[in-house]
Amino acid sequence: MKICNLVAPAKINLYLEVLGERVDHYHELIMVLQSIELSDYIKIYFNGTRDFNLYCNNSLVPLNETNIAYRAAQLIVKKFPKFFDSYGGVDIIINKCIPVAAGLAGGSTDGAAVLLALNLLWKLKLNKTELEKLSENLGSDVPFCITGGTAIATGRGETLNPIENLDNLWVVLAKYQNFSISTPWAYQNYKKRFGEYYWKIDSNNRNNNFKSLVNAISHKNDKRIGELLHNDLEKVVLPKHLVINKLKSFISKTGGLGTMMSGSGPTIFTLCESYEKAQDIKNVITQELQDSNLELFISKLSNNGIKIMEN
Ligand code: C5P
Repeated sequence: MKICNLVAPAKINLYLEVLGERVDHYHELIMVLQSIELSDYIKIYFNGTRDFNLYCNNSLVPLNETNIAYRAAQLIVKKFPKFFDSYGGVDIIINKCIPVAAGLAGGSTDGAAVLLALNLLWKLKLNKTELEKLSENLGSDVPFCITGGTAIATGRGETLNPIENLDNLWVVLAKYQNFSISTPWAYQNYKKRFGEYYWKIDSNNRNNNFKSLVNAISHKNDKRIGELLHNDLEKVVLPKHLVINKLKSFISKTGGLGTMMSGSGPTIFTLCESYEKAQDIKNVITQELQDSNLELFISKLSNNGIKIMEN
């Protein structure tokens, strides 16, 4: 195999609760993560040199070490230098469709795709568990992006337990163009505001909410799933960015099952029981807000992580 084409899906958070700070200074989390069909498209092929070249159709995407896809290639070279000597460098072409720095794991899913592609192209023969372990070095969301679907994520976000899939549901996503939120900023500010409560919040109460959501997912109780969406990071992002707060308030009145910010934001999503409902809601947002700076997407929830396409 000389060329690898991949589809790299985005994710949304259905639940994100911060429990406290860990010794490695990351936050200990309980999350429910969900893949969606909105995806980046990635092509990787041998370039006959010893370089890794990254190309992207979106000028907001960095083409250096700050890009997780680039770091994924560097990580594989460092771990498998003999394979690098045999096969050499690759060109990585990212067709970016997922909004950048939006809380949708767009960078993480591209990084996951590069790991899977180099595993195939360089015949490393790593299995999914080994790839997930390796990918932890690249970011907390990258292991989830490999397998995708619907999963409980704990630890930093890297410890995964797959649960019943929700691929009967749809989502409308709303993101202001050129408006992004830094994930470290969101966590640092959460710590400033709520650090004194870390590890102290009534765990019975917390687990009831979380368990209720997982229970609703296992019973495919769509209405209840919508009601139980939860994201602690909203508590710092929404008061600081009133434009996002207003957007969430507006969308939550358009008739979806539930409306929330994904990850560290700023994307707001609303869950819907059908494509028709999602289309109706998208039309209402377009007509009522009349904001050409607001990007809207309709996407189905998905049961897939990275897909390797037949050439
Ligand atoms: O793991 P990732 O590189 O995506 O994390 C980006 C930043 O988000 C970290 O540097 C950290 O500031 C914050 N973070 C955190 N706890 C997590 C995940 C991320 O504090 N579980």
